[in-house]
Formats: sequence, C-alpha cells, structure tokens
Amino acid sequence: MEQPLKPIGHTIIRLDETTSTNTLVMESEEYLENHGLVVTARHQTAGRGRIGRKWHSLPGSQLQFSTVIHPPLPREQVPVTSLMTGLAVAETLEAQLALQPKLKWPNDVLLGGRKVCGILMELKMRHRKDDPRLVVGVGINCLGGPGDYPVELRDTLTTLAHETGSEVDMERLLQGVLKALDSWFTRLVKGARPALLEGWNSRADLAGKKVRFRAAGGPKTGRAAGITEEGFLVVETEGGGRHIHTSGEIEWL
Ligand code: BTN
Repeated sequence: MEQPLKPIGHTIIRLDETTSTNTLVMESEEYLENHGLVVTARHQTAGRGRIGRKWHSLPGSQLQFSTVIHPPLPREQVPVTSLMTGLAVAETLEAQLALQPKLKWPNDVLLGGRKVCGILMELKMRHRKDDPRLVVGVGINCLGGPGDYPVELRDTLTTLAHETGSEVDMERLLQGVLKALDSWFTRLVKGARPALLEGWNSRADLAGKKVRFRAAGGPKTGRAAGITEEGFLVVETEGGGRHIHTSGEIEWL
C-alpha cells in the first residue's frame, strides 16, 4: 500500500548560497523522491524565473525556496497546483500582514499592481512512469525596497517591507506559506479543486485585461476572460474567437 504523504515542509534544508534552489532539487534524485522536502537559500547566484528569465536575488532580503510535490492527482489536475501556490502565498500575506494581494495568471502575486512574489513550477517525469515530481519554487521580496533592485525592475516590483512599512519575519512567513500549501494540497487531493479555483478567482485581476500570445499563424492579441477548470487562461481574441492558453508564455499589455 502507498505510504501517506508527509506534510510539505517536514524537512527544511537551509543554505546560505546556491545557484538556484529549483536547479538543485531538479538535479537530485534523492530530493525529488522526498515529497514535502524544502530547500531555502539566503542567496541564489543563478536564480531562475519563468520562461527562461532570470530571477534577481538580493542576498538575505527574499524568502527563496523550492519544495517537492508528488501529486497523486489525475494528469489534468496537475496544472492547478501552480495556481494553488500563488493562492497559498496570497492567503498567508493576508493572514500575517493584513495585505490584499492580487493574483496574476499564471502565478505572480501582486501588491498595488507590482510583483511581490514569483513562482516557478517545474515538472520532472520519471523514467517510464506516469508519476511526475513537481518542483515548486517560490521567491518573495521581503526586505529592502524597490530601489535596492536593478533599475529595470524598480517600476514593476515591490517588497513586503515597502508595502507594510515594517520589517518582515521571513521565518514566520515561510512557516505560514508551507502550512497553507500543505493544507491546500491535502484538500486538492480530496477533490477541493472548485474551492481552490474560487479562492484564486476571488483574488484574480484579469477579466478584460489585454494580452498578446504566440499562435501558429503569428502573434495574436485578445482579452483575458477567466480560467478553465484545469487552470488555463481563457482569451477572447480580436475577431471573436476563443483561445485556451496553457503555456504561461503570455504578455500582459
Ligand atoms: C518568475 O516570476 O518568473 C518566477 C520566479 C521564481 C523564483 C524562485 S526563488 C526560489 C526558486 N529558485 C529559483 O531559481 N527560482 C525560484
């Protein structure tokens, strides 16, 4: 019989510096086999963002971690684990800091329209087995202010310290996010996808927003209209078509 899964965060490996916590976990069979394992780093020298972007690490000022999830979920439900992570972060910011975050598809967390948290979800398919391992990487800008970041990022990001006007307890935040993640994961496995989508939708900021995406015949633009049950983005294209966007590679205009 399958062993029950341990809680997310049952073991936390704390590193001062690494290249990228996601890379480290993705490259370790031992880590990948350990559902709920968490690796944090005070600094990442090669932090990675979505779609090949770089994640800028500011030593000691961000909560940066990756966790391993073994999703015992039907294949079509795996993508919602990405929405689940954004929701878990948003709920923790609400509960601990009385903030009102918004969620931007697929999984940015925003405060006042600026990004405070980015999430990189990667999937490792195991040899011959339809039994994926998810590596969920979370980066939250906690201390300092936008002025501490490279000039090209300053207008689009924010930090918790900047938004609240006070220092943030990063350890408490980590524990809160892990608890919220574990709670949502446990519920999701038991069928709570509708509740998860409701929680995500109630914090989403997408209806009517203009987007551009790559399609077979070249770039297309349209307006976001919501998300599907699987967690994909619905876009109403100019010309009246409906497009379901699955890749996360989208430009918000
Ligand atoms: C994005 O916004 O594009 C995703 C950013 C994800 C950053 C986190 S920090 C911890 C983990 N390790 C990485 O290299 N990336 C993720």
